Amino acid sequence: MNQYDNRSRVGYYIAMDPLLAWREEFPILAHTTYMISHSLGAMPRRTAERAREFTDTWAARGVRAWEEGWWEMPVTVGNLIASIIGAGEGEVVMQQNVSIAQSIVSSCFDWRGPRNKLITAGLNFPSNDYVYHGLERQGACVVTVPSPDGFTMPLEPVLDAIDEQTRLVSVSHVAFRSSYVQDVAAIVARAHAMGAMVIADLYQSAGTVPVDVRAWNADFAVGGSVKWLCGGPGAGYLYVRRDLWGSLEPAFTGWAAHEQPFAFEGGAIRYTGDAYRFLNGTPNVPALYTARSGYEIVNEIGVAAIREKSLRQTARLMELAAAAGIRVNTCADPARRGGVVTLDVPDGYEVTKELGRRQILVDYRPQAGIRVAPHFYTADEELEHTVREIRAIVESRPAAAIS
Ligand SMILES: Cc1ncc(COP(=O)(O)O)c(C=O)c1O
Repeated sequence: MNQYDNRSRVGYYIAMDPLLAWREEFPILAHTTYMISHSLGAMPRRTAERAREFTDTWAARGVRAWEEGWWEMPVTVGNLIASIIGAGEGEVVMQQNVSIAQSIVSSCFDWRGPRNKLITAGLNFPSNDYVYHGLERQGACVVTVPSPDGFTMPLEPVLDAIDEQTRLVSVSHVAFRSSYVQDVAAIVARAHAMGAMVIADLYQSAGTVPVDVRAWNADFAVGGSVKWLCGGPGAGYLYVRRDLWGSLEPAFTGWAAHEQPFAFEGGAIRYTGDAYRFLNGTPNVPALYTARSGYEIVNEIGVAAIREKSLRQTARLMELAAAAGIRVNTCADPARRGGVVTLDVPDGYEVTKELGRRQILVDYRPQAGIRVAPHFYTADEELEHTVREIRAIVESRPAAAIS
C-alpha cells in the first residue's frame, strides 16, 4: 500500500491532486493509511522543531521568555486560528480545551434570573452538556433538543426551542457523531431576535469546513486543535464577539485576565479590556508551540481548497461503500456533510480493531459506525483500500451480513 509515496510515482499523483505534495510533511503517512483526522490529525514534521524551539527558549532565555513572547502567545497563536474561523486579530484566545472554554463562557451569566434557559442541540459533544448540567445547581434550566435519529439535527426544532427565557443556545457546527452540518447563522438570527446568545462548537469544522464567525454574528465560538487543525492536544480556543467584551465578566477567571496582572493586587478582579479578560491562569505554553505548525499549514492551503477536496473524497467514499453494500450513516447532501463518512457494518468495533492491525486507522462510535475521514493529505487510493479492507474483514467474520 501507499504506492503514492513511491518516489517514481509521486510526480504523477501530485499532478492529479496538488494537495498530495503535503504528504512529505506528515511522517505517519509513509506507513499508515491515516483516515482519522476527525480524532487526531497527523503531526506535521516541523512540529518536532517547534517542540525543540520551546525547550531551547526555556533553556537559553529562562524567565525572560515570558516577556519575549510567551505571555502574548494565547493571542499571537490565537491569531492563526482567527484567520481560519473568520475572526479578527486579537479576538481569539487560546485555552487548554473546549470544556474549559465552555465553562468560561457559561460563567459569564447569572443563571438565577428569569432568563435561565440553556438550549443544547442534541448532537452536541457530551463534555459540553456535562458543563451545562453542572449549571443546574446555579439555577440554569438545561433544555436538550433531541436529534430525531442520532445523526441529523433539523433546524426547526432548535429554532422553536428558543424563547424569551433563553440565555444561551449551544450548537455544534459539525456533529462529532455523524458529521452533520448545522446552520449556525440561522440559529444566531433566531437567538438574537429572542434576546439570547449562541455558542458554536467548531471542533469538527474548523480546518475542513468553512467557518465565518463574524458573518454568522456568533456571540461565542470554541474549538480545539487535536483534529482537522493537526495541532495536537492542549490547545483549545475561544472567540468572543468583540462588542460583548465590556459587558462580560467570567466568574471562571484568573490573574491573566486582570487589567494589571503584574501588580498582583488582592481582592476582586479588575478585568482587562481586551480578550485577555477571557483567560485565567498561566497559559499552556508548550502546547501553543506544538499547535502552530498545523494552523500555519491550514492557513497556507486555505480551507476552501481543503473543503473542495473533502467533498470530492467523502462523496467517493460513499459511492465505494454503496458499491460494497455497506450502509452509510452520513448525509448525502454536501451542504449538510462535514469531513467524515460513517460506515455501519456488523461488529464495527471489532472491524475497526482489525483495520488498525492492517495499518488503517479509523475509529468507531456506538449508534453510528466506523468513522472514516480523509483530509487534504489523503490519496484517492487510500479510500479504495479502506473500503476494500472493511468489506474483506466483514466477509471473513462468522456472521457476515453485507448484502
Ligand atoms: C465537537 C467536539 N467538541 C469538543 C470536543 C472535545 O472537547 P475538549 O477539548 O474539552 O476535550 C470534541 C472531541 O474531542 C468534539 O468533537
